[in-house]
Amino acid sequence: MVGKDEKTYDVMEIRREFPILERQVNGHPLIYLDSAASSQKPRAVIESQREYLSHFHSNIHRGAHALATQATEAFEGSREIVREYFNASKSSEIVFTSGATDSINLVAGTWGRSNLKSDSTILLTRLEHHSNIVPWQILATEIGCNIEVVDVLSDGSLDLSDFNEKLSLKPSLVCFSHVSNALGSINDVKKLTSLAHHAGSVVLIDGSQATPHCQVDLQDIDCDFYAFSGHKMYGPTGIGVLYGKLDLLELMPPWRGGGEMISSVSFEEPTTFNIPPYKFEAGTPNISGVIGLAQAISWMKSVGVDKIAAHELALTDYAHKKLLRIEGLKIYGTAEHKAGVVSFLVDGTHPSDLGTLLDQLGVAVRTGSHCTEPLMKWLGISGTVRASFAAYTTFEEIDALVAGVERAIKMLR
Ligand code: ALA
Repeated sequence: MVGKDEKTYDVMEIRREFPILERQVNGHPLIYLDSAASSQKPRAVIESQREYLSHFHSNIHRGAHALATQATEAFEGSREIVREYFNASKSSEIVFTSGATDSINLVAGTWGRSNLKSDSTILLTRLEHHSNIVPWQILATEIGCNIEVVDVLSDGSLDLSDFNEKLSLKPSLVCFSHVSNALGSINDVKKLTSLAHHAGSVVLIDGSQATPHCQVDLQDIDCDFYAFSGHKMYGPTGIGVLYGKLDLLELMPPWRGGGEMISSVSFEEPTTFNIPPYKFEAGTPNISGVIGLAQAISWMKSVGVDKIAAHELALTDYAHKKLLRIEGLKIYGTAEHKAGVVSFLVDGTHPSDLGTLLDQLGVAVRTGSHCTEPLMKWLGISGTVRASFAAYTTFEEIDALVAGVERAIKMLR
């Protein structure tokens, strides 16, 4: 583990690559502890957007000119960078979407609508973000199928015996997050996938909170679908990925209709569709977003994702220890395996009041239900204060968070 004095991880050097970290908020240096909502962007990603828009912007796959060729090469080269980084076996398994939410809705609207029947079961977990619940609820209402939910243990980890029990219902589809956005719990996705496959289920993983923190090997996990967003892993907003195994993508009907997703269009004959991934990429895609995502991946590789993970683990341990010294503070989510998220409440204070007072000190946290209302209801609370960490977070910033919470408590109690 990389500690406070560890020489191999120079957090100050990393911070210099993030221009936004130089700004002040409410008269204080920005302390950005909301990276689980969206990470900040390194100079390399910002510069990639400027470079593309200033020098080779064009539509892709369409034009006969030099700019179109250059933009198409950058776009498809980025797909290959994504494929290689996540160890998908083919670049046709990497579908660009607007984000994890869009990716999950794509699977619900195509694979789900064509494979699930009124007697099917979809298995979800109580840890899920609304984006991995609501698309399935909309679909289940439409086709009349059943949704079952796996329970969570008191430390915020998934209840494996309940998972196994509910697999005996032979769900057609099992969906779970890789890392909980509200509590930080890390699921053993390889094991869960193997158990679900053994039960004959197709597996979808919401990887939104995992990709910023750990190396994801899709062939090793062996899931059928994996969804994530670029903006949580140092890339731009509005770009995400749906990974799907090619045999499934090939059988899935198209998603949105439009240009590029077709093979031929006719009023006289049936319109025919392109091969994956283009079948699912109707219209002009987010070209700059794709280029920025590839640049974010290159940036993470240059730092070393294992080093980032070790740094965040050390920060999380440190934050737990320091915060727990505050009287009346309770941490929600104490699973053994956690990513860089600490959710907490303080007796006698409301999370949104704490968030507002912290903001006045320049400390940015998220408060509320974190789009996990079923989880909050199960915890018996309406929400938490959530501090979340990234490659650029320092131990001193956690000290400032703790001092800020102590100061806010004095004002609120
Ligand atoms: N899903 C994001 C979060 O957890 C927005 O904050």
